Amino acid sequence: MRAQIPRIFLFVLAVVGIYAYVGQLLPQFEEHPPAKTVITAQTPPEELVRAGEDLVRAKGGCLVCHKVTESGNERGPDLRKAAAAAASRKPGMEGEGYLIESLVDPDALLVPGFPKMMPSALRPPANFTMAEVKAVVAYLQALGGTEVTVKVRDEDAARSGSATPQHRGKTLAAQYGCLGCHKADGEGGAVGPDITRVAATREPAELLRKIVEPSAWTTPGFQAGIMPAEIGRAIPEGDRHEIVAWLAALAGKSYSPTGAASPWSHEGVRLGLAIFIFNALMLAALAVAAHRERRA
Ligand code: HEC
Ligand code: HEC
Repeated sequence: MRAQIPRIFLFVLAVVGIYAYVGQLLPQFEEHPPAKTVITAQTPPEELVRAGEDLVRAKGGCLVCHKVTESGNERGPDLRKAAAAAASRKPGMEGEGYLIESLVDPDALLVPGFPKMMPSALRPPANFTMAEVKAVVAYLQALGGTEVTVKVRDEDAARSGSATPQHRGKTLAAQYGCLGCHKADGEGGAVGPDITRVAATREPAELLRKIVEPSAWTTPGFQAGIMPAEIGRAIPEGDRHEIVAWLAALAGKSYSPTGAASPWSHEGVRLGLAIFIFNALMLAALAVAAHRERRA
């Protein structure tokens, strides 16, 4: 019996190690969006269209100004009609070329009746590669019911816009309307306070709470009840964490939505430790029982 104990102990240790490792991985599966499609010259057209739709809805922030369904924003033209209109917008330019130009250099031709306000898709906030621009064009062609003609070339995948990586949290803050009321990092509205440095004095947990429960506190000098009470409910948990991670980064702090930066503070590891202690106590009890048995 006694000779078995070290082996049992090692076995328990291995099991606990696996628990801790799996526990460490799980929240990342839950909170991270699916890996985005890498767009290459080989990407089939229907996948290109799907990737383009994701880009328009999320990373591109396009729906802040445009709509792709009956309801939506009308600061810019209805994108359902863009592909059909494209063929005749510019004399001598076919539809595909115009759509690419309208994303890359939106001021080259302003759609009549609309102001100059669209940022180039190659620069922040969208910060697309040419491959991403073409995926969006494929989506616009499919959305408008015209033939998908656009082709991605291998060199399109290289980053051609600004080199600064765009924080996903910023795109999300724009997408969910936070920047309509708040200025952050030099951009946004003035209805609410500038939140560029808010994470310097507020913990991530407080910021997460403020998003789902705006009445949690009221910024001095501002009126309560203006930040929409239900705003957080429409934002998936993972996205709320990403917005807070961005605010933390703006204040020079780091906040990892999964807690992976510090594995020892992680729930999975704590669970593993609890199981370890439990098993160690069981082993001790077993050893005592074996000892008593031999004495009897
Ligand atoms: C800040 C608001 C804003 C954002 C963000 C924006 N757009 Fe625009 N967009 C406009 C406006 C306004 C126009 C019309 C004036 C012009 O042609 O630039 C326009 C024009 C267009 C056109 C030409 C439509 C036509 O009928 O000729 C396309 C296509 C387009 N946008 C796609 C996009 C895509 C895709 C994104 C996301 C990567 C995007 N826009 C982001 C405001 C915006
Ligand atoms: C309709 C306007 C509006 C929108 C949209 C809005 N807010 Fe607010 N927010 C306010 C106002 C006004 C205040 C100040 C009064 C208060 O604390 O409720 C505020 C306060 C805050 C504060 C506290 C700042 C401090 O220094 O105490 C944070 C953080 C914040 N908002 C984050 C967000 C985030 C993140 C979003 C997007 C999910 C968002 N807000 C959307 C209007 C808005």
